[in-house]
Amino acid sequence: MHVDPHDLAGERAVDEHDAPIRESAECVAAGRHLLGGHHLDAHGSQTTNQYPHLVPRIEIAPSVLPADFARLGDEVAALQDAGVDRIQWDVMDGQFVPNLTFGPAVIAAARAHASVPFEAHLMVLTPDAMAADYVDAGCQRLIVHVEACQHLHRTLGHIASLGARAAVALNPSTPASAVAHVLDLVDMVLVMTVNPGFGGQDYLASMEPKVAEVRDMIQASGYGIDVEVDGGISAKTVAGVAAAGANVLVAGSALFHHPDGLEAAVAELRALAESAFPWLTD
Ligand code: DX5
Repeated sequence: MHVDPHDLAGERAVDEHDAPIRESAECVAAGRHLLGGHHLDAHGSQTTNQYPHLVPRIEIAPSVLPADFARLGDEVAALQDAGVDRIQWDVMDGQFVPNLTFGPAVIAAARAHASVPFEAHLMVLTPDAMAADYVDAGCQRLIVHVEACQHLHRTLGHIASLGARAAVALNPSTPASAVAHVLDLVDMVLVMTVNPGFGGQDYLASMEPKVAEVRDMIQASGYGIDVEVDGGISAKTVAGVAAAGANVLVAGSALFHHPDGLEAAVAELRALAESAFPWLTD
C-alpha cells in the first residue's frame, strides 16, 4: 500500500502538486524589481527557489522593541513616514530567549497603521504552532531560528503553504552551513549580530566573516536571497557588515534614540550601507 509521506506529516511541504507561488507586489518593498517569476520544482532538480529573484538592495528594517508600546500604531506610522522598507517585530516567548514580547493580537492592532511589509522574527521554541496566527495578524514574512526547529525543512515549507515568505535565522554560535540545504525554501537568511533577547546590546564584529560566508553561499546558489543582520547595527557598525554582504539592516536603538530623529537616522544608515555594499546595481 503506497502511503504519501506528506499525509503522514499532516502538513504538506510545498511540492509539484501545488500551484507555483507567485509573489504579489505588496510583499516586495517599493522600488525593488522582480527578475520574472519563478516556481518550485520540488522533486526534480531545483534550479530556482520558490521566491521571485529580487535584485539585492539596501533595506532598513526597524526593530519595534524600543518603541513606546502605549502608542504602537502611531509608532509604526512614524517609521513608515521616516522611509523604512519593512518593519520587524521581535517575537519572544520567554523560553527560546529570556524575554517576552508581542503576541499576534498586538501586531494585528498595529497592522492598519502602516502598509510597509511586516516581518515577525520568531525567537520562540514552537514556531510551527504559532506561524498561522502571525500570518493572520498581517506578517508577510516569518523568520524562524535554526536552533528552534527540529524539522526546519518542513517548517519553512509550512510557512510558504500559509502564503507567507519564509526566512531563517542563525544565532551567533551557529555556523553558516546550517542553512546550506534550505536555501531553496527561503527569501532571506538572518545572521544575528548579538545573542537574541534584548535591544541595546554591543555589536559582534566577529560575525562579519559569517555574513560573508552566507553571502558567498547565496551568490554560488544563484538564488535571489537577502542577507539580514540584527543587533547593535548603527552608523558606527553598518559599513563593516554591509561590506561583508548584508543588505537588510535591522536597527532598534540606533533609530529610535538618534538625536536628529527617525527620518535622519534612517537616511544616514541607508547612505552608509549603500556606500559599503559591493553588490549594488544601478
Ligand atoms: C534582539 C532583537 C533585535 C534588537 C535590536 O534579540 O532581535 O532586533 O531589538 O536592537 P538594537 O538595534 O538596539 O541592538
